[in-house]
Amino acid sequence: MTDQLIIFDTTLRDGEQSPGASMTRDEKLRIARQLERMKVNVIEAGFAAASNGDFESVRAIAEVVKDSTICSLARANENDIRRSGEAIKPAASGRIHTFIATSPIHMEKKLRMSPDQVLEQAVKAISWAREYTDDIEFSAEDAGRSEIDYLCRIFEAVIKAGATTINVPDTVGYNVPEQYADTIRTLIERVPNSDKVVWSVHCHNDLGLAVANSLAAVRAGARQVECTINGLGERAGNASLEEVVMAVRTRRDVYACDTRIDTTQIVPVSKLVSGITGFPVQPNKAIVGANAFSHESGIHQDGVLKHRETYEIMRAEDVGWGANKLVLGKHSGRNAFRSRLIELGAAIESEEHLNHAFARFKELADKKHEIFDEDLQALISDEAVTPELEHYRLVASRFHSETGETPAASLTLNVGEKEIKAEAEGSGPVDAAFKAIETVAKSGTELLLYSVNAITTGTDAQGEVTVRLSRDGKVVNGQGADTDIIVASAKAYLNALNKLHGKFEKLNPQI
Ligand code: KIV
Ligand code: ZN
Repeated sequence: MTDQLIIFDTTLRDGEQSPGASMTRDEKLRIARQLERMKVNVIEAGFAAASNGDFESVRAIAEVVKDSTICSLARANENDIRRSGEAIKPAASGRIHTFIATSPIHMEKKLRMSPDQVLEQAVKAISWAREYTDDIEFSAEDAGRSEIDYLCRIFEAVIKAGATTINVPDTVGYNVPEQYADTIRTLIERVPNSDKVVWSVHCHNDLGLAVANSLAAVRAGARQVECTINGLGERAGNASLEEVVMAVRTRRDVYACDTRIDTTQIVPVSKLVSGITGFPVQPNKAIVGANAFSHESGIHQDGVLKHRETYEIMRAEDVGWGANKLVLGKHSGRNAFRSRLIELGAAIESEEHLNHAFARFKELADKKHEIFDEDLQALISDEAVTPELEHYRLVASRFHSETGETPAASLTLNVGEKEIKAEAEGSGPVDAAFKAIETVAKSGTELLLYSVNAITTGTDAQGEVTVRLSRDGKVVNGQGADTDIIVASAKAYLNALNKLHGKFEKLNPQI
């Protein structure tokens, strides 16, 4: 029998700490539903005490996700823990993850606390958390640069106090695999009652070693890996979920454990996270990069055609490539449409919501006769915008682009209750569209990112545009999809403005 390796996904918490990756509550909910579908064991849904927005997101996720444990991060203080405890209350299975720094540099310079004070605070934190749940994780922040004797002491104390998972983060990505594995092995050997808890690892990728360190720790006895989709996370990111999961699955002979992850969901979730955050996936990224399974050299192609395993250690379809099968077409009915949306994890709030989405699906099917899951995902993204938050809406558009002429855009926008015409010229039609919108919105924002991705293959594919805007330190991402990429761009820009305009609170706690 192989051991189970617990996959703890922190895309919605540590991943969101990537500058510019902040997500709205609805976006987080969509990702959480997909993570549940992928059978992630634990979803770290946020840091409830960071803001009301974060609290609401954790709570909303705890209300709808039932197959994964929902976790909220909390510093080791009473307020943070109580906020987390309240936020996870609706969860079928809820966890509080509390942390305090344990390295000499963090204790002395950041916390200004003695090691004894830190230990005492950690124990108190566990006792507050126990008022809400028996599933308590304790992290020794910057464990990678902490003294082993002190780690043994604090872990012994928190286990005695009731912690059930002990996490050993390499917060600054300083460790190397052999050393990190030694740390984990030593802790498991030396800490009393180490067999009563799950040992967890959380590695940052500053030296590009996050996955290697995590896997070395698994060999040393760790049975929970904290990771993120596409390796998103603070600075250089966290260990990437898809790489950890596929390494363990492909090399069971080495790791002697396996996960419960449905690997066919990996690519769809990767695309969803990339689309929502606007962080593109590099083509040569393992598992989820566009080239991860394509063979360019003649020798390789010949080998694969003769016998696939000559050059392939995994099957593309096992991680969800090629899953973008034709799902619906122009003649599909409302029921087929509804069932597919449900399968994709979309929340259909009302019949009116469904009717609206269905009308948009028919419009798309007129332009593009093959509709794939990715097209539906983009459509759901657009539909996810709640009407109260939709202050700006694109009603109609005309663009002019001709050799030797200055590109121009002429838009009709719904602004609140009014319909307004907006016109501008620009260095290209996208620039002209954004300038036209700005003649009306006068938002005073800075454009941080503009990116276009083809959602599926073929020249009739929808373009999915991400626009990142910032104003007064608030950063938002807007998305728009359309077969016309200028229209998609205008929609993405308006979507970002709506987030700035509405009650959307920037959910990017820097801890
Ligand atoms: O990197 C880190 O130390 C963290 C902890 C809060 C687990 O993210
Ligand atoms: Zn981290």
